[in-house]
Amino acid sequence: MKKILVANQKTYLNKEEAEAFLNEFKEEGVIFCPSFPFLSMFNNHIIGAQDISKEESSSLTGEITASQLKSLGCQFAIVGHSERRQNEKEDNTTVNKKLLNAEASSLIPILCVGESKEDYDLAKTKEVVETQLRECLKDSTGELIIAYEPIWAIGTGVVPNNQEIKEVITYIKSLYPKYKVLYGGSVKASNIKELNQVEGVDGYLIGGASSIAKELSEIVKSCQ
Ligand code: PGA
Repeated sequence: MKKILVANQKTYLNKEEAEAFLNEFKEEGVIFCPSFPFLSMFNNHIIGAQDISKEESSSLTGEITASQLKSLGCQFAIVGHSERRQNEKEDNTTVNKKLLNAEASSLIPILCVGESKEDYDLAKTKEVVETQLRECLKDSTGELIIAYEPIWAIGTGVVPNNQEIKEVITYIKSLYPKYKVLYGGSVKASNIKELNQVEGVDGYLIGGASSIAKELSEIVKSCQ
């Protein structure tokens, strides 16, 4: 089965590096979420935003709205990424506003949820994920994708074992059967074959590895 692959390039690349990446990367079908200034460089690919403003207005200095992103050709928007929850103190209420704002502009939200290491150690993963989903999805009516990303697996090289991933993905699908569910957190060319053994995973949200053309190409080939 073909997987949904979302490349969250964060702030890894500058302009020259993004150009070099695009010259080298030849695969198709990946949803690219590059840094905002480089979105139009990725026009030959499916594009999404790494974040959006929580409301629509013409006077939000420094923000980028869902309708602006839509006008650039974006089809998706990541909301609730743990780096924004942690660094910008975005809570579930804010994430919910962003998600509804994306829906209102016909962007498909990619909603990130996941537990901290502390919650994991206390066996609270399902509880945390259920609360995040319930609060972030309040009043949502549209199409969306859920990305399960344990915070302790993001950028660390540490990945939950396949049974743990399967358990959380199965749980999310039992609550929200109509949505696709991705796994994210240290997905790499070196572990993609192992991750592909997990039943029920509809795809991956890839951070660090998605800015390295060779690495991402290998992941794409393993998922076709
Ligand atoms: P990572 O990031 O693949 O570098 O762990 C994933 C993410 O932050 O979405």
